Amino acid sequence: GAPIEVDVSKVAPGQKLSFEWKGSPIWVIGRGEKHLETLEQRVDRLRDPDSEKPQQPSYAANQHRSVSPGTFVVIPICTHLGCIPIFYPEREPREFDDEWLGGFFCACHGAMYDMAGRVYKGTPAPLNLEIPPHRFKDEHTLVIG
Ligand code: FES
Repeated sequence: GAPIEVDVSKVAPGQKLSFEWKGSPIWVIGRGEKHLETLEQRVDRLRDPDSEKPQQPSYAANQHRSVSPGTFVVIPICTHLGCIPIFYPEREPREFDDEWLGGFFCACHGAMYDMAGRVYKGTPAPLNLEIPPHRFKDEHTLVIG
């Protein structure tokens, strides 16, 4: 599929835009300071906190798993059996887990991922969510693909 261009100046923190690229759903998510802070908390709960498995381009193998911390680009397909998780950017609802900080919850079998798509240990998914290739063409224009 052809690359997609997204004007990220329209994506506020906690918001999500949905696209399709090469037959896969793609979400572009805005992250603010409060979301980014959660990426440093409770990393001991994560299965692959340093993104050592090849679930992202090498330039996104960082803590925030993106080119720019405020813009998160992810393929929202649960790495357990392929359901689409639900995006919960806030700490609520807490009934999933006492230590839930916001992120992605897969209602099929309970996989939980943080705000960088990193999977929590003790939930059924083996890998972090996949990050597609992406770059910035200029300050506001994100290119996916
Ligand atoms: Fe997501 Fe099983 S498909 S937890």
